[in-house]
Amino acid sequence: MDLNLKNKVALVTGASKGIGKGIAIELAKEGCNIIICARDKAELSQAVMDLDKFNVEVLSVIADLTDEQQIDNLIHTSHERFGRIDILVNNAGTIGEPLSFMELSTDQWRNIFELNVFSVVTLVRKVVPIMQQKQWGRIINISSENGEQPDPDMPHYNVTKGALNNLTKTLSKVLGKDGILVNTVSPAFIKTPLVENMLKGQADNQGISEKEAEENFLKNKRPNIVLERAGEIEETAGLVAFLASEKASFITGSNFRIDGGSVASI
Ligand SMILES: NC(=O)c1ccc[n+]([C@@H]2O[C@H](COP(=O)([O-])OP(=O)(O)OC[C@H]3O[C@@H](n4cnc5c(N)ncnc54)[C@H](OP(=O)(O)O)[C@@H]3O)[C@@H](O)[C@H]2O)c1
Repeated sequence: MDLNLKNKVALVTGASKGIGKGIAIELAKEGCNIIICARDKAELSQAVMDLDKFNVEVLSVIADLTDEQQIDNLIHTSHERFGRIDILVNNAGTIGEPLSFMELSTDQWRNIFELNVFSVVTLVRKVVPIMQQKQWGRIINISSENGEQPDPDMPHYNVTKGALNNLTKTLSKVLGKDGILVNTVSPAFIKTPLVENMLKGQADNQGISEKEAEENFLKNKRPNIVLERAGEIEETAGLVAFLASEKASFITGSNFRIDGGSVASI
């Protein structure tokens, strides 16, 4: 299916690896020019090399999205280079510390909100005026199954993703009149560096292999995944490209799960 995305400009946050990089590659395959950002310079450079294969323009900007000045620089540099941003994928996120509700400090709650929620609010505020000039835009927020089906072991993460789901719906109501459509994509247990690090930590703690840690996680922590396996990065990226396209022109304010059936509610 031709998604008609040729020459659009997409900003994908946290696209040096994991789901963000997969989304950037999928959009590049469709002919989008790509802006990526992250903190680690070496991983960003590797991602640029991977994206260069697709014959589109690629801009990478080192940015810590918890710092508003660095977001300003990201948007300024992007606008200077392309003069437009058509698609914003708010993907950068963290699971925070593996602590229980009673162990987490107020500062740890604040820190996870800085990236998972406040950076998205700031990015949207700065990108929307650019999209309004063309009266066309797509904003896709990468949430999580935890936003709808909270995991008791990840209290602060759950709450940030619930907030992001609400923000999406709110923004869809505010921005629809400008032709800007806003949707959420909610993955579960996708094999990325983030998940691999988490499993490695569990394997080290329990003296088991990473494969056993993955099997235990599926059995004990994600028993609702009907497909009984982890998802792949590529399995999330295609839906994001579709939502970014003209084909999705009557879709806004929705939350799409890519979770192998994990969220138990209808
Ligand atoms: N993997 C899953 O199973 C899963 C499930 C549900 C939801 N999600 C969501 O999907 C998104 C991506 O997850 P992932 O698994 O692909 O994670 P990942 O492999 O850890 O990749 C995260 C990306 O975000 C960047 N990033 C992190 N902190 C940043 C900051 N302060 N400023 C700018 N960039 C930052 C990272 O680069 P640097 O570290 O170099 O900055 C990296 O490019 C997250 O929002 C996550 O909550 C993932």
